Amino acid sequence: MKIDKNEVLSLLRKSDGYISGQELCDKFQVSRTAVWKVINQLKEEGYELEAVQNRGYRLLQSPNVLSQKELTSRMNTKWLAQSLYYYDTIGSTNIEAKRLAEEGAPHGTLVVADAQTAGRGRRGRSWVSPAGSSVYFTVLLKPQFQPEKASMLTLVIAHSVALAVERYTGMDVGIKWPNDLVIDGQKICGILTEMNVETDYIQHVVIGVGININQQTKEEFAEEIRENAISIRMAYGKEINRAELTAYIMEQFEKDYEIFVKTENLSGLLESYSTHLVNLDKQVKVLDPHGEYTGIARGIEENGELIVEKEDHTIEHVYAGEVSVRGIYGYT
Ligand code: BTN
Repeated sequence: MKIDKNEVLSLLRKSDGYISGQELCDKFQVSRTAVWKVINQLKEEGYELEAVQNRGYRLLQSPNVLSQKELTSRMNTKWLAQSLYYYDTIGSTNIEAKRLAEEGAPHGTLVVADAQTAGRGRRGRSWVSPAGSSVYFTVLLKPQFQPEKASMLTLVIAHSVALAVERYTGMDVGIKWPNDLVIDGQKICGILTEMNVETDYIQHVVIGVGININQQTKEEFAEEIRENAISIRMAYGKEINRAELTAYIMEQFEKDYEIFVKTENLSGLLESYSTHLVNLDKQVKVLDPHGEYTGIARGIEENGELIVEKEDHTIEHVYAGEVSVRGIYGYT
């Protein structure tokens, strides 16, 4: 058997205390020297490891980098992100996930990048994606449900990212229906869900998420989004470990997705989702291709539609796939 560096790191990370050299030898069926070599390699890569005689090894600190190893060793999921592709730079994680899907990549595959050269935003816009501070990822799913249900996945993952960021930072995170996340009214995250449909069934869905994480100033954002953008770090005041946050998101999304597929609607998530909805009881302008109108957002339906009460008190149901919603006094 061969000793696997990623697995050693996962074991060290998941253990509360020390792992003895002997345990590692037994697990991988290798010599003490082989274990010692791997430990040294990890140290060279920036991992701080303590070695205590008769007790073993303990992980004290990890380098704050985004890498395949950092991501896989932090994952606490059963089926999601078990197949994981990390790239320092890629065109677009959504496009790459679709390409992998065509090649037979499994349901739950995660594609992560530090930078994108052709990042895609909603409505045909581009998503400027420099290296170092954000995280860009795409989850590939091959669900059994009907294509018209897929737009709800944007809402499901928005909920998961909100909860994960709240778990990491303790701050309140809002969802601007259907696909933006905000802190203090400013955007920290955008979501782009795309799907391939064959006659009447979904071949695959890709859910792409871009999160502003460690930018320290507004100047680090592209000019066209600067006014309404903020990073988690700017709000939180401390640097974030991107790999750790990504693992939190996957853990939450796995749970939320399982709740969602039971009913194929948002009933199981509605209560929690609603407490995060920043549009609730606020005036919104609905940019419907058939004509704009304003009203007050009253919540969402189990199928993900936004309930909007128009000025004449009639109720409209707004389908996430079709429209964009703006606050009438600004971005939210
Ligand atoms: C938006 O316009 O708000 C949606 C932006 C979605 C960006 C993410 S970054 C990862 C994934 N890959 C892409 O090319 N786009 C999405």
